[in-house]
Amino acid sequence: MGVSTIHGAESFYEFLRPSHREKKAFVCNGSACMCAGTQEPLKKKLQEKLGDDKVGEMFCLGHCYENNAFHYDGENYAGNDINKIDQIIKGEDIVQEKFFSKSYASTSFLMDDKLSNLDQFNEQLKKFIATDKQEITKSLLDSNLTGRGGAGFPTGMKWDFCRKAPSEKKYVICNADEGDSGAFSDRYLLEDQPLKVLFGMVICGYVIGSDEGVLYIRGEYPKSIEAINGAINSLKKAGLLGENILGTKFSFDLNICIGQGAYICGEETALIASIEGRRAEVDVRPPFPVTEGLYKKPTVVNNVETLAAATGILINGADKFSAIGNKKSAGTKLVCFDSFFNNPGVYEVEMGTPMKKVLNDIGGGFKEPIKALQIGGPLGGVIPITEIEKLNLDFQEFTAAGFMLGHASIVSIPKDFPMVEYIHHLFEFSAEESCGKCFPGRLGSYRGKEMFDQAKNKTAKIPLKLLNELLVTMQKGCLCALCGAIPTPIMNILKYFGDEMKDDMVKDN
Ligand SMILES: Cc1cc2nc3c(=O)[nH]c(=O)nc-3n(C[C@H](O)[C@H](O)[C@H](O)COP(=O)(O)O)c2cc1C
Repeated sequence: MGVSTIHGAESFYEFLRPSHREKKAFVCNGSACMCAGTQEPLKKKLQEKLGDDKVGEMFCLGHCYENNAFHYDGENYAGNDINKIDQIIKGEDIVQEKFFSKSYASTSFLMDDKLSNLDQFNEQLKKFIATDKQEITKSLLDSNLTGRGGAGFPTGMKWDFCRKAPSEKKYVICNADEGDSGAFSDRYLLEDQPLKVLFGMVICGYVIGSDEGVLYIRGEYPKSIEAINGAINSLKKAGLLGENILGTKFSFDLNICIGQGAYICGEETALIASIEGRRAEVDVRPPFPVTEGLYKKPTVVNNVETLAAATGILINGADKFSAIGNKKSAGTKLVCFDSFFNNPGVYEVEMGTPMKKVLNDIGGGFKEPIKALQIGGPLGGVIPITEIEKLNLDFQEFTAAGFMLGHASIVSIPKDFPMVEYIHHLFEFSAEESCGKCFPGRLGSYRGKEMFDQAKNKTAKIPLKLLNELLVTMQKGCLCALCGAIPTPIMNILKYFGDEMKDDMVKDN
């Protein structure tokens, strides 16, 4: 391999850049922490301790339940742990509070303890690797489970397509690159329900005829990597992973690939490129991974929550899952609340539940006035509080109203947070994270960021006509949803909060 090939791949990733490697601590610069205004004070304190050039930023450490976090030497800490920075630097163990989690579902598929030890894993595995493969895919189809990673493809159909793809070698990939600010639900499953996630992968391997799975876990989640690594090792020791599992002909092994700070690696084709060691650029589909995925072999790529839900469905029964919600938005979903809620944490909620109930009864309402929520990560809609209360927790309802439920992460935007700054943050994010392959995304996100740099600095007004043309071009012309969907929240803000862009900030053309 030429040095240029290696440099091309390596220079793609934030963590591998010399400018990143020289730093010691990183402040979370996710949307939730930005809204809470915790980043600058935390950065200042870390700089005082470590030096100005030793403190960088990381996009979302999954501590949105406290809107305040930093990373030091391979570990994530709550923002308030800055008070223990001397102990942290000395390498002493810091007791960290766990975030709150609770199921509000009539049947819990994701938070129960029916698959929380090796004996239960053994018992269920014995049962399901003796079950007809088509019967398993039928269960998933009957359950109406759709992918929880954002695209919402029916999981049973995905497994069945891959099962039918002719190939000696196939792969199962767990997409654990949860980069959406506001989301820590995959983190919850990886750390608190690792066996449920791994069981979903093993059964998927059995169904499609694969002997190898990879978990792509973001490097920003060190505890998740540790938990999954521990679970894989204990399964291997117990003979529940590896060659001829439980004395059958079925062999299946798992490995972890650790992300290096690139949001786009959550997109399945970029994720596959990343595992293969290529620059993590998005690929055109078709072919879809189920026919041509990792190393061009048929591959199922599923989100962490999808795999855990598949496990829950097999154990509890497809009928119980499909009885909740409707055909296109069935079963239960994890929803995360940031620290603006009175009850921050991760909750299992039934699809179809009115959002009013989700936010006020489960989330406990807000600690301070909130004007909007960004739901579904940086690419999801920005929804005024008055609009959100008209919706139910339902993928289709959100889309029909011009928003996106996505992975159901929630970022609260306080009443006095300037929306110009929020749009600037979104453009800055897409400019930084665009894979650079398609020019509407690569150039459009930078051009948008420039416009809002100038508006913030008051050096030029925002040309509204040009901005609208730019957003439509990105929506229609981008290769993937990173730069193709970022116009959605920006258009929502212009529609609902346009008044905030005062006359001295915008011009018509
Ligand atoms: C920019 C971008 C980022 C994405 N990030 C994630 C992610 O972090 N986790 C995830 O599971 N899916 C993510 N997806 C969706 C994946 O491409 C893919 O649809 C998903 O992993 C399929 O799994 P599912 O069917 O279980 O949802 C992302 C998509 C895009 C366009």
